[in-house]
Amino acid sequence: ANRPVTITITGAGGQIGYALLFRIASGAMLGPETPVRLNLLEIAQGLRSAEGAALELQDSAFPLLAHVEIYDDATAAFDGANHALLVGARPRGPGMERGDLLTANGGIFGPQGTAINAGAADDIRVVAVGNPANTNALIAAAHAPDVPRDRFTALTRLDHNRALGQLAVAVDASVGDIRGLTIWGNHSATQFPDIAYATAAGEPVPERLAARLGGADAATRWLTDEFIPRVAKRGAEIIEVKGSSSVASAASATIDHVRDWVGGTPDGWTSAAIVSDGSYGVPEGLVSSFPVESVDGSWRVVQGLDVDDFARGRIAASVAELEDEREAVRSLGLL
Ligand code: NAI
Repeated sequence: ANRPVTITITGAGGQIGYALLFRIASGAMLGPETPVRLNLLEIAQGLRSAEGAALELQDSAFPLLAHVEIYDDATAAFDGANHALLVGARPRGPGMERGDLLTANGGIFGPQGTAINAGAADDIRVVAVGNPANTNALIAAAHAPDVPRDRFTALTRLDHNRALGQLAVAVDASVGDIRGLTIWGNHSATQFPDIAYATAAGEPVPERLAARLGGADAATRWLTDEFIPRVAKRGAEIIEVKGSSSVASAASATIDHVRDWVGGTPDGWTSAAIVSDGSYGVPEGLVSSFPVESVDGSWRVVQGLDVDDFARGRIAASVAELEDEREAVRSLGLL
């Protein structure tokens, strides 16, 4: 049998944690041949919930589940970790200013970066899910100078999957037939879901949209007035409809992100927020979402796409927000 892979999940006692653990243990993330060890990191108020989840994991008798351990200390929890799923974060409370939010999260993701630097395995791969995800990943990376930059990512796969779901309906295709979709920028309302290169069953999506909606102008209106805002604000829509935030879809996107990172993207590119190397004019070092392929276990930005003025403006707006967040955490001494 393969050696077990160690996965450290922060906020494991929370909602997304609960939706993630069972799918990881079932083999959905790393496949049916890879046993997993789960390290659950929580703070005091989440420990009992994590303990409960651990009992239920035992009761699920997953053949791939080699071990479960619960921690309240980051250094111990990340020791030997091959994957770090950084889910636990400080939500914005009533009346909380952005600076307070960033400071609170800096106090979480900074020490976790330090712990990853100190003891994680050489092949550590990190994904920040907890919000503000891109900037939390940036903070963690800044505290882990010995870990290669390309191991730090933030989740925009949920946005990508949301866009796939919306497009599939709009062009009457199956999500599995859609390729070439990109989420650019920040996991926030400024993100840019880009369909310029998307195809559905090999047919260009922009053309298909124009045909269905009655012309290119109508397609553009649909994009700017419906598709882009709906994808970007889907989290709020879910909260309004169900009364609580997206949980299962967020966990599912996290599984997709890690599965493709390790296993590859044979069906073309997807979206992930990675540390920019300057591609497409995104300042180096920002954690921004790009079109990415996974090659030999590393994310690579898909190069050579022609970005038109409309797209350029949208990407620049989201990147400006990321720069703003970076400036704010810098001035708070969190980098
Ligand atoms: P939750 O509040 O149910 O769970 C968060 C858990 O993290 C709690 O159990 C809490 O005790 C724990 N926690 C807090 N600080 C911690 C620390 N320093 N170390 C370890 N654990 C800690 O929240 P939920 O619904 O599970 O969401 C988690 C995060 O994911 C939120 O920040 C949310 O905004 C974000 N999110 C991100 C998405 C994305 O696409 N990137 C999508 C949906 C949610």
